[in-house]
Amino acid sequence: MAKKELRIGMIGYGFMGRAHSNAYAKVNHFFDLEYRPVLAAACARNAEAVQAFADNWGYASIETDWRKLIERSDIDAIDICVPNNLHREIAIAAAKAGKAILCEKPLSMNTQEGEEMCQAVEAAGVPNMVWYNYRRVPAVTLAKNIVDSGQLGKIFHYRANFLQDWTISSEVPQGGGALWRLDAAAAGSGVTGDLLAHCIDTALWLNGGIRDVVAMTETFVKERMHVETGKVEPVGIDDACAFLCHFENGSLGLFESTRYARGHKALYTFEINGEHGSVRWDLHDLHRLEFFDHRDAGATRGWRSIHVTDHGGEHPYMDRWWVPGLQIGYEHSFVHQVADFLAGYAEGKAVGPTFRDALETQKVCDAVLASAAGRNWQAVG
Ligand SMILES: NC(=O)c1ccc[n+]([C@@H]2O[C@H](COP(=O)([O-])OP(=O)(O)OC[C@H]3O[C@@H](n4cnc5c(N)ncnc54)[C@H](O)[C@@H]3O)[C@@H](O)[C@H]2O)c1
Repeated sequence: MAKKELRIGMIGYGFMGRAHSNAYAKVNHFFDLEYRPVLAAACARNAEAVQAFADNWGYASIETDWRKLIERSDIDAIDICVPNNLHREIAIAAAKAGKAILCEKPLSMNTQEGEEMCQAVEAAGVPNMVWYNYRRVPAVTLAKNIVDSGQLGKIFHYRANFLQDWTISSEVPQGGGALWRLDAAAAGSGVTGDLLAHCIDTALWLNGGIRDVVAMTETFVKERMHVETGKVEPVGIDDACAFLCHFENGSLGLFESTRYARGHKALYTFEINGEHGSVRWDLHDLHRLEFFDHRDAGATRGWRSIHVTDHGGEHPYMDRWWVPGLQIGYEHSFVHQVADFLAGYAEGKAVGPTFRDALETQKVCDAVLASAAGRNWQAVG
């Protein structure tokens, strides 16, 4: 077991608080690393609830005010797992206190906030990373390796969807608890920042920068009860968003996200079409990468479904897990991200996506929302 400690101060105990805690607990059992995360403190406003979370996951202490957590000298890294409107203030305070920062996505509410966060971590010189975890699903990392090897040739198309169906009922309220995502004041935007941000991060990583966008958004349910005020209030988020874009490499992009696609729970898919071949990935079948190579012999040419479980370094991360043929799942993407972060931390190397990398996604999100509002093409940046 690694000797050096990275003492984690976790803020938030919801979905991501659990996903990250699980990753911290597992990472050193599967990866040889100089550092090991120590679950030093968990923080949230409700002492009883955060104590129960701390007891369950093995955090040594709790705080109910994130400012106190950041002041503590026995914390090395702050993990931000709270709604989007809190990322900026916490990250800037943590950077000033010299802490490493692992921040959930989207980086910020908008580009301006994100830029302030980048400047804060860069001025303080603290390690920083944003949890765009899908990059570290082995099949997605394999797609990156295939694209970078040039096997697809010149890229013509990038297509991505992220489809859900959980807000169709107008009875679903907005605000507070798990429903902060429907409250523009807490979330910043709807599916654009929540779901398309993942698609955009993967796309920028796999296919390079986006030059300009044209988008449309819709808010199907215009008023919802607000949990915190108890009043019916206008809904300020986008329920659905679709956009077209030009990538800097000349390829065309088509992105769609909605929470109104009945039957789909988290259907994140992407497909890349190049001159020689294509790749396609689906979160519902996340251990597989579909691959087509036009240069294959004609009679047997067709889409291959690669079960990404082989050892020997061909299939990213997989030689750390079970035997070939046995797949892993969603939670492992977080374990991989922690492993890469700790390896970079030991060597003093930045691990992507850094705040600066994630700011590029924020810029695309802002351009998408501006385009939808203005009904026009928008340059990114
Ligand atoms: N990487 C991913 O795939 C992924 C998935 C889900 C959420 N997220 C992101 O993670 C972040 C959190 O989302 P979630 O789904 O875990 O939300 P959640 O609602 O499940 O949990 C939010 C947590 O924040 C806490 N909190 C709220 N205000 C606080 C405050 N002032 N001080 C301390 N704690 C406070 C709540 O008590 C709760 O524990 C968001 O930015 C979201 O966009 C990322």
